[in-house]
Amino acid sequence: MTTGSIVILTGAGISKESGLETFRDEGGLWSRVRIEDVATPEAYARDPERVLEFYNMRRASMTGGNIRPNAAHEALARLEREWPGDVLVVTQNIDDLHEKAGSENLLHMHGEMMKVRCDHCQEAVVWEGTLGLEDSCAACGTTGRMRPHVVWFGEMPFYMEEIYAALDRCDLFISIGTSGNVYPAAGFVQHVRMSGHRHTVELNMEPSEGATLFAEAEYGPATELVPAFVDRVLQQGF
Ligand code: APR
Repeated sequence: MTTGSIVILTGAGISKESGLETFRDEGGLWSRVRIEDVATPEAYARDPERVLEFYNMRRASMTGGNIRPNAAHEALARLEREWPGDVLVVTQNIDDLHEKAGSENLLHMHGEMMKVRCDHCQEAVVWEGTLGLEDSCAACGTTGRMRPHVVWFGEMPFYMEEIYAALDRCDLFISIGTSGNVYPAAGFVQHVRMSGHRHTVELNMEPSEGATLFAEAEYGPATELVPAFVDRVLQQGF
């Protein structure tokens, strides 16, 4: 296949070598902070300041440190520019490294760390500083209802209709840097396999929960695997 459409799912592993932490690796975020305390609607209702502080820290680590896209992000942007067919990146990540690398056809299914949303009127805006209960919504003026524009556990991810439409018409599905623990993203490979002869590839540091569902897999750091895989697809197709 040399002109088919490609859907790429990415997870925290693609940003690890840029200096951002993953969730379930050794020492990952969820080994230090409980999901129930900072990443559920109930946590936000119970203790909004604790939740806002958690995302203020993560936002500051994105803007404060020298966090840059790595060779894997850049390779995916090159694939989008140079591949003759459609290329869509569906990311579980809330960082902005795919955009910074130049990816344009990109869906953040778990939201974006650099945006906040009014829980009253749902208006979402770019927000690079800290967010507090004293902040107000520029659209409706409500104070104390601004929240991270991030999908919490128990909430519906964004763009699901667009994502399943792209999965249904893709010829190649690539999963990069995700442990395959969180649905619906973890079910995308099964969805692609069920609807016809498409190629499925996992590029990850280690086998994910869904590893056996992929027709092809390579294990190692994303900054090595992804540029090499993109070169191969651009030169030989898949
Ligand atoms: N290169 C490639 N893969 C890597 C690298 C690397 N340098 N470093 C780690 N990985 C792999 C790990 O082996 C692991 O399988 O990345 C994966 C990261 O898995 P998780 O930490 O579970 O992150 P992710 O799969 O993105 O989590 C999904 O869960 O907590 C929620 O909303 C959060 O979007 C997140 C979702």
